[in-house]
Amino acid sequence: MKQGCIGDETLFDRNAMSDPTASFLFALTNAGSERALKAEVAAAGRGWRPSFQRRGFVTFKCPVDDEPFTEEALGAAELAFSRRVCLSLGKAESEEAALALAPAGARVHRLIWDGKRLVRAEGEASEPAMGEGIVTLVAFSPEEIWVGFHRHRPGLSPDPGGMAGLEMPPESPSRAWLKLEEAARFFGLHFSREDIAVELGCAPGGVILALLRRGVSVIGVDPARLAPVVMASAVTERPEGPGDPPWVYHCRKPAALVGKRDLGTRVTWFLSDMNQSPAVALKECGRCIRMCPSIRSALITLKLTDLAEAADRDLWFGELRAMGFRTMRLQQLAVHHHEMALLATDRRA
Ligand SMILES: C[S@@+](CC[C@H](N)C(=O)[O-])C[C@H]1O[C@@H](n2cnc3c(N)ncnc32)[C@H](O)[C@@H]1O
Repeated sequence: MKQGCIGDETLFDRNAMSDPTASFLFALTNAGSERALKAEVAAAGRGWRPSFQRRGFVTFKCPVDDEPFTEEALGAAELAFSRRVCLSLGKAESEEAALALAPAGARVHRLIWDGKRLVRAEGEASEPAMGEGIVTLVAFSPEEIWVGFHRHRPGLSPDPGGMAGLEMPPESPSRAWLKLEEAARFFGLHFSREDIAVELGCAPGGVILALLRRGVSVIGVDPARLAPVVMASAVTERPEGPGDPPWVYHCRKPAALVGKRDLGTRVTWFLSDMNQSPAVALKECGRCIRMCPSIRSALITLKLTDLAEAADRDLWFGELRAMGFRTMRLQQLAVHHHEMALLATDRRA
């Protein structure tokens, strides 16, 4: 029995009220990344058919008409260009009607568009439990509200629409503070006072500021100057171990000139945020990572001139695998424009 149709496209099966199925999925992406998202879905060969689209929002129809999408389909859908994929349960003309389409008792996330832009993401402050059902209401206007459903699981951002809603501190010297903090929230990254991080392309120092405030000591590599707010923690000689308070050592040279002596033997985290092509950036990253057997995790911001370059993902993953990492993920975060985060973890000793 099919019910629950409001608008022209989405139906869900009320027979399975606790875990609905749906003929459509919707995916939230960054404004301007819709085409890249559709290309990624097509390349994955799942047969999802692109349907309705708004800026930052794309729906896909299931490959076979009488075989609707299930929660498992969402679990298998790890899309670099989507921060959140939901079963699409329909479209309603008021919030009350929207909630009537959703399974009862689920946590509610609200995403509010103002004209062409997503302006607000709202939800409870507490993190959802693993397996918890979440209803995402996407309000393009008070009279056009799309209803999505997913269950929280490992690897998913806990935040509404995968948007952490972070505010950069006014003293941060660059927006890169947001890149680090958003990645930490999205991927659930852990940093501790025992960590030493190296960052290639560290100036003026937004990422360093975020790391220092998390208690992490940093070796920053960049020929350009660091801002006074991070230079206040600078040391002139690199200490062997992490510090309390954490320190920053500015290795003021291009990445290609960095040697083992600059890095020492205790670096645990590797970061890179250079304005270089992915090929150049990954070459420099690989050289430095190979100098430090103690590195366990890497977060690399890749700058793309064209989002279609993300089709090289398997090549990038292969390079990271050759460096010893065992788990890789490529993800565009809300803070990114022509950039993506490449996360690599579980490096072999
Ligand atoms: C987007 S900015 C980095 C922002 C920085 N992560 C922050 O937190 O403020 C890019 C930086 O990459 C640096 N860069 C570009 N090529 C580099 C190279 N080959 N070696 C080291 N740094 C490089 C530039 O000097 C520039 O400061």
